[in-house]
Amino acid sequence: MTTTDIPDTMRAISQDTLGGPEVLREIQQPVPRPGPSEILVRVHATSLNPTDWKHRALGGLFLPEPPFVLGWDVSGEVVAAGHGVTLFAPGDEVFGMLPYPHGHGAAAEYVTGPARAFARKPRTVDHVRAAAVPLAGLTAWQALIDTANVQAGQRVLVHAAAGGVGHFAVQIAKARGAHVIGTASAANHEFLRGLGVDEVIDYRATDFVTQARDIDVAIDPLDTENVLRSIRTLRPGGIVVSLLRVDADQVRAAAAEAGVRSALMLVEADHTGMSELSRMVDQGTLRPTIAKAFPLAEAATAHALGDTGRTVGKLVLTVR
Ligand SMILES: NC(=O)c1ccc[n+]([C@@H]2O[C@H](COP(=O)([O-])OP(=O)(O)OC[C@H]3O[C@@H](n4cnc5c(N)ncnc54)[C@H](OP(=O)(O)O)[C@@H]3O)[C@@H](O)[C@H]2O)c1
Repeated sequence: MTTTDIPDTMRAISQDTLGGPEVLREIQQPVPRPGPSEILVRVHATSLNPTDWKHRALGGLFLPEPPFVLGWDVSGEVVAAGHGVTLFAPGDEVFGMLPYPHGHGAAAEYVTGPARAFARKPRTVDHVRAAAVPLAGLTAWQALIDTANVQAGQRVLVHAAAGGVGHFAVQIAKARGAHVIGTASAANHEFLRGLGVDEVIDYRATDFVTQARDIDVAIDPLDTENVLRSIRTLRPGGIVVSLLRVDADQVRAAAAEAGVRSALMLVEADHTGMSELSRMVDQGTLRPTIAKAFPLAEAATAHALGDTGRTVGKLVLTVR
């Protein structure tokens, strides 16, 4: 491993206690060194996901108590490669999602992660847009492609379609030739039409169950009640992919009774998925939307915006 130009310490956003955005603070900590099959990446940008603000505020999720540095999404440059890495070399531009949930730490100037959590950064976008993709894009990819195996002509219902996961899910489903129905508040309908959504439902004004019919695939990032209602929109044999920790027994029983399938999915680090997303970005079929970008030092402001649950697209932190 060559360590030229790699400092001993780096800036990172950490917290000592759970709480509001004000618990976040900038610290100096040692730059990690890559172990076998890992790369060390100089982070240019990282993006935020609801899991960041949930873990910042709430105990009992996936991580032990703080102190910790959150962040899973990375776009940057390889500066060192550990033993056995063949995919990348120093100087390569990469993007990826650190292994979820335990591989966190991307809100920092450097991170290490398994080489196969990364892929080549798309050439046609900057690091801010590339950093927006990994966790939300992989979630949409693994839900639609790996889990539901969506096919051309199928009817796909995407809830929270204007959000990070939703806006990628819409574009991936459209690229596969599906008919896409998205739920969002009225203010976001124009945005969704711009992404190619075929039908929009204002979930605040109407009951989506009465609007969405004969659905083959429903992507549901909401609560048990919403998933049970999504089941009612499915055609026989259809599938609902739930992204939250819902009442699995209740969902399974309702799906069985309705003659449909259900899956509870947690996103995984995925070189193949990242490579496919990179290819789509360069083809122009996957366009990351940036709600707003903030310097790393303003992570608390970005978290406060995320806490609203109303952002369109992705919040990004620029690190370099
Ligand atoms: N299982 C997994 O691996 C996994 C992975 C990623 C995310 N998730 C979870 O999935 C959820 C969404 O993630 P995200 O990154 O897309 O979040 P996000 O970007 O924060 O989502 C924000 C969007 O949600 C919409 N929204 C809020 N409530 C809604 C409702 N009742 N119906 C329809 N739209 C609604 C808002 O649109 P309007 O203003 O138009 O309502 C807003 O645009 C989070 O709970 C997250 O933790 C799970």
